Amino acid sequence: MCNDYRLEVDIASIAEDFESLQIKIKMPEGTPNVPAREDIKITDMAPILRSVEGERGIGELVNRRWSWPGPRGKPVYNFRSEGRAFSSHRCLILADGFYEFTDPADPKQKRLDKWLFTMRDHPWFCIAGIWRESAACEAFTMLGEACDRIQMNVAQAIEIHPGALAQVPHRDHDMWQGEKGKHEYLVNVIWPLSPFTRENGGTEFYPRSHGAHGITQSHPAPPVIAECLPGSAICFLGSTLHGAGANVSSAARRAVIFGYSLGWLKPYENLWLAYPPEVARTFSIELAGLAGYAQHRPNLGNYEGRCPSLLLSDDVSPLPGAIDALRPDQEMMVEDILARQRSGEVRPWLHIP
Ligand SMILES: [Fe+2]
Repeated sequence: MCNDYRLEVDIASIAEDFESLQIKIKMPEGTPNVPAREDIKITDMAPILRSVEGERGIGELVNRRWSWPGPRGKPVYNFRSEGRAFSSHRCLILADGFYEFTDPADPKQKRLDKWLFTMRDHPWFCIAGIWRESAACEAFTMLGEACDRIQMNVAQAIEIHPGALAQVPHRDHDMWQGEKGKHEYLVNVIWPLSPFTRENGGTEFYPRSHGAHGITQSHPAPPVIAECLPGSAICFLGSTLHGAGANVSSAARRAVIFGYSLGWLKPYENLWLAYPPEVARTFSIELAGLAGYAQHRPNLGNYEGRCPSLLLSDDVSPLPGAIDALRPDQEMMVEDILARQRSGEVRPWLHIP
């Protein structure tokens, strides 16, 4: 989850863009001081555009702190909606890039490799957020949608032999029976190990077949073939209609595929069997987390009531004792209910608005 983003585009040109969208910007506290910054980090002040109660087409531009303190003091810098609608206190977080971090390519390097993500067709964008008053100040947090963390869904090598017939077109998200179209369940990345061509079964994708609208189409447009060379990556959503083509060439078509799904789903591959603790111990923390050695709040995928990353340590207690892994909003609710019971209230949950 993003803990570092960028805003170097000046506020005046962002305000102009909003005006062309017929969204009027008010600055109730005067023009906020927004220096161009390569890194905006948790607890920094940064500009947000917040909705105005009862008004449409108007936003208030203010500077606020990124993250509020959670019940145990940890900053709440992202929040998961879990299908809840937030009808008030919504805001847009202005950004022109965000960062993700991976283990360094050079093992001698101590710093993680830092990757910048930007919009391809526009110099800036917004991240969904909510804001609230906290004891110290008003603050905002990023609003996630469908899960706390992602997991590896599959890691597979695929070889399509000469003479193989075309695969039946399908959507990979159909392995799960939940409602489709509300949010995406997974994203796949195919890494070709041999050239993908029309002749050797290069994967066929049906344009605009993905997402809420795409999955309702009964007659999709003709497919495009992902012709590319090793070194390319083919990235597609689980809702995209696709299938391997027929291999009419004389050579095998080879690739590896890595898929990543919402962290609370049952993965395609049984991760703990595929990567038992003695194997996962050789992974980085991030990779071990993707391979199932991380809990998904609240309490999903635990081992004896604890995060399964416990199994990667040298000294594993047979009975480590359970600890709840709740989201900050759940922690707050539980602490409130316990406090009210201690002060004599009976079933206080019946009186929570
Ligand atoms: Fe597939």
